[in-house]
Amino acid sequence: MQLEDVQHVTVLGAGNMGHGIAEVAALAGYDVALRDIEDEFVQKGYDQIEWSLGKLAEKDRIGDAEADAALDRVEPFVDLEASLADADVVIEVVPEKMAIKKDVYDEVVEYAPEDAVFVTNTSSLSITELSEVTDRPERFCGMHFFNPPVRMDLVEVISGKHTSEDTLELIEGFAESMGKTPVRVRKDSPGFIVNRILVPLMNEAAWIVESGDATIETVDSTTKFDMGLPMGSFELADQVGIDVGYHVLDYMHEVLGEAYRPCPLLVEKVEAEELGKKTGSGFYDYENGGAQVPS
Ligand code: 3HC
Repeated sequence: MQLEDVQHVTVLGAGNMGHGIAEVAALAGYDVALRDIEDEFVQKGYDQIEWSLGKLAEKDRIGDAEADAALDRVEPFVDLEASLADADVVIEVVPEKMAIKKDVYDEVVEYAPEDAVFVTNTSSLSITELSEVTDRPERFCGMHFFNPPVRMDLVEVISGKHTSEDTLELIEGFAESMGKTPVRVRKDSPGFIVNRILVPLMNEAAWIVESGDATIETVDSTTKFDMGLPMGSFELADQVGIDVGYHVLDYMHEVLGEAYRPCPLLVEKVEAEELGKKTGSGFYDYENGGAQVPS
C-alpha cells in the first residue's frame, strides 16, 4: 500500500478521540467510515464532528463549504463488517484496555481487506502485544493523537517490534497529509514521549494539592500564566479526561515503578465518575461556565 492508494479510512470508536480523528481525516479529503457499537454512540460522535466543524468555520479556520464537504465525507456505521469493506487504513480508537482492544482486532482481521494497514491510537499500551493478535504485525503501528485532534498538530507514530519501515513511512506520510507533524517513537515503551512527560506533570500537580501546599486554582494559574503552558494542569486533565490520565499513570506505575503512583485526588475523581469536560464536571464544573483559571 502506497500513500496515494489511501482513500478510505475506517475509524473504530466514535468517542472523545475517535470522532476528532475522523474529523481530521475527513478534512484532509479522505472518505471516513466512523464506527461504534451502538447507534447512540456513533450519532453522538457524528454530532460532535458537526459541532466542531461549525466552530472552526465560525472562527474562520475553515470555510463553510469546507466544513460541509468534510461532514459529507463521514459515514456513520454500527455494522463492523460494512464499516471495514473499503478500508485502506483502519484506525482503532476503542477504550484503553488491552483486553477490549484485542477483542476488537479478533473481529477486525476477519473483515478488513487483506492489504489494509492497522493503526491503534493508544496513550501507552504495547503496540507489539496488540500487533501479535492480528494477521499483519508488520503492517501495524501506533498513532497517538492529542486532544483535541483537530487543533493539536503533533502525532506520535510508534513502532512495534514487528512494524516494517514501509509501514512507518506510510503512516508518517498519512499524518502529514492530514496536516500533522509526525514524531517517530522508536521503542514501544509506556507513555511513549509525550505522556511520559505530561501525565506525571498532571499527577505532580495533584500531589501538590493533595498535600495542602496550594489550591487547584493557584497551581493552574501558575502553570498557565506564569509557566506559559497553554492550559492549567487541572484544566488539561479535564480536557483529556481524568480517567485517561489515570489509566496511563496506572500502567506506568505498574511497569516503571513507584514514581508514577496515581495521586488519590485523581483516583477519587475517577471513582466519582467526574472525569472532566466529557461528564460535565471534573476539577472544574462545566455545567456552569467551565474552567475559570484566575490570572
Ligand atoms: N473543535 C473546534 N473548536 C474547539 C474544539 C474542537 N475540538 N475544542 C475547543 N474548541 C473551541 C472552544 O469551544 C473555544 O471556542 P469559544 O471561544 O467560542 O468558546 C475555542 O476553541 C478556543 O480556541 P482558541 O483558539 O480561542 O483557544 P486556544 O488558542 O487557547 O486553543 C487549545 C485551544 C488548542 C485547545 C489550547 O488550549 C491548547 O493547546 N491546549 C493544550 C492541549 C493539550 O496539551 N493537549 C494534549 C493533551 S495530552 C493528550 O491528549 C494525550 C492523551 O493520551 C492523554
